[in-house]
Amino acid sequence: MSVRQLKVGDMQNFVYLLVDDRSGEAMAIDSGWDIDPIVSTVREERLDVKFAVATHHHSDHVATLWQLARVFDAKLVAHRSSPISHDLDVDGGDILRVGGRKVKILHTPGHSEDSICIYDGENLFTGDTLLIGSSGRTDFEGGSPRNMYRSLHSLILKLPPKTIIYPGHDYGRVPFRKLAEERKANPALSARNYSEFLGSLELGSATLSRPGLGSGSSAPWG
Ligand SMILES: [Fe+2]
Repeated sequence: MSVRQLKVGDMQNFVYLLVDDRSGEAMAIDSGWDIDPIVSTVREERLDVKFAVATHHHSDHVATLWQLARVFDAKLVAHRSSPISHDLDVDGGDILRVGGRKVKILHTPGHSEDSICIYDGENLFTGDTLLIGSSGRTDFEGGSPRNMYRSLHSLILKLPPKTIIYPGHDYGRVPFRKLAEERKANPALSARNYSEFLGSLELGSATLSRPGLGSGSSAPWG
């Protein structure tokens, strides 16, 4: 499958199209604040969007997802614990079919209870669970450092090292990266135990500083 990575809005959100090149069927992953970049790409490439998937319920990812689903007559997909209304409930291990391809859902709570990652066998779309160089915040409602540690270390790190990580925000040095490289460069993944992982969360909030975002814990992480 092939990936279109598009940046939308003022919070550096990444949204995606995951495309089965043979059939032209596609899955949209989040839509952010603005559906126009996705709609233009779909029309230019004459794709057929079957699903509009929410990585989690935070507005910067799903504010326009219903609008997008209706434009393409696609099913809006979210984790079964998601508070947003949706057409299709999914849970960890579920499979969605895009063209002839299977796309698997991983339930990865930690940033929020309803956080999911989407895996096609080569690419992993991580929403705010895993960013380039850090993990997502765990201090919002429904967040849990313990769950985040389990999601990262018991699920995501079990995937093949060549898996490409596609995050929900453009907060890293690069827009996407192989899991093997991320494992070395990201303190949340290189942590050898839960205590080191907690240290990585504190390190992230203490050192993160980006233009326009100020520094420290004011950074949004979605
Ligand atoms: Fe978020």
